[in-house]
Order: sequence, then C-alpha cells, then structure tokens
Amino acid sequence: MEETRTLYDKIGRPTLEAIVTRFYAKCFADPMIAHFFWNLDHDRLSQLQIDFVAGLLGGPRSYHGRPLTMVHADLPIRAPHFRRRQQILRESMQEFGLDGELAYAWLELEEKLQALIYTDKNPCNHH
Ligand code: HEM
Repeated sequence: MEETRTLYDKIGRPTLEAIVTRFYAKCFADPMIAHFFWNLDHDRLSQLQIDFVAGLLGGPRSYHGRPLTMVHADLPIRAPHFRRRQQILRESMQEFGLDGELAYAWLELEEKLQALIYTDKNPCNHH
C-alpha cells in the first residue's frame, strides 16, 4: 500500500512549491542562463513550472502551458545551459533540505526530458 505513494506525495506540495519558486528565482538571476528569461513574465513562468513539475512527479496533471518542444524550439539552448539549470535545481533542493533519494529521483526525471528541450545543433557534427 505504502508503495503507491508518488514522488509528489513524498515531497509534498508546500516543499515542491518552495523549491520550484526558489529555483526559478535563481535561474532569473543566474549569469549563465538569466538572459533567456529577460522580458518574460516571471510569476507566470514560475506557476507553469510548478504545475509541470507536479505532473512530472506523479501529482495532479494541471499543466496547461505549451508542449515543451514548442516552447524551447527557437531558443539557443545548449548542453551547458541544460546542465547549469540542473545544478541550480539541485542547489535549490539542498537549500530546503530535501532528502537525497527524492532529490536524485526528481533530477533524473528532469534529465530524461533533455531531448525535448534542445538537440545538438553543433555544425561540426554535420558531415
Ligand atoms: C528539463 C528541462 C526543462 C523543463 C522541464 C522546462 C520547462 C518549461 C516550462 C513548463 C515552460 C513554460 C511553458 C509555457 O510558457 O507555456 C518553460 C518555458 C521556458 N523555458 Fe524551460 N524547461 C527546461 C529547460 C530549459 C532550459 C535549459 C532553458 C534555458 C536555459 C529554458 C528556458 C525557458 C524559457 C526562456 C522559457 C520561456 C519561453 C517563452 O515564454 O517564450 N528551459 N520551460
């Protein structure tokens, strides 16, 4: 019976919201990736991110934003930006003392979405 609890249940809504809000605030201020978010509605983005993550972790599927491939297609995102984002997320989890195993499981789910966020457009690979 216990095993049917989702990651969302184990982390809990208040902690999820606190971590994601903190995570996006750090992204909006980060020297390496903040420029992607200039001129955008940060409150709206944070809310969409909370909804998306809730569904990703097995909670309510309330995300009503655009499909991830569509959102990121025209952005010049590369591997280092993706890794930086993951690092900021990990730091935000640590700030709120999230259990290590829960943190790892959450990060792994985000990692699996990489192909939806960017493809390797390095011209050196086009032989
Ligand atoms: C697993 C990784 C990622 C996930 C799950 C994710 C998720 C999302 C979501 C849910 C939205 C809101 C969609 C909407 O506006 O309808 C969004 C927007 C956005 N994301 Fe990501 N994202 C990821 C990686 C990245 C990375 C690596 C960057 C850049 C460093 C990035 C930059 C942006 C920007 C700039 C927007 C706003 C686009 C716009 O409104 O025009 N994302 N993302």
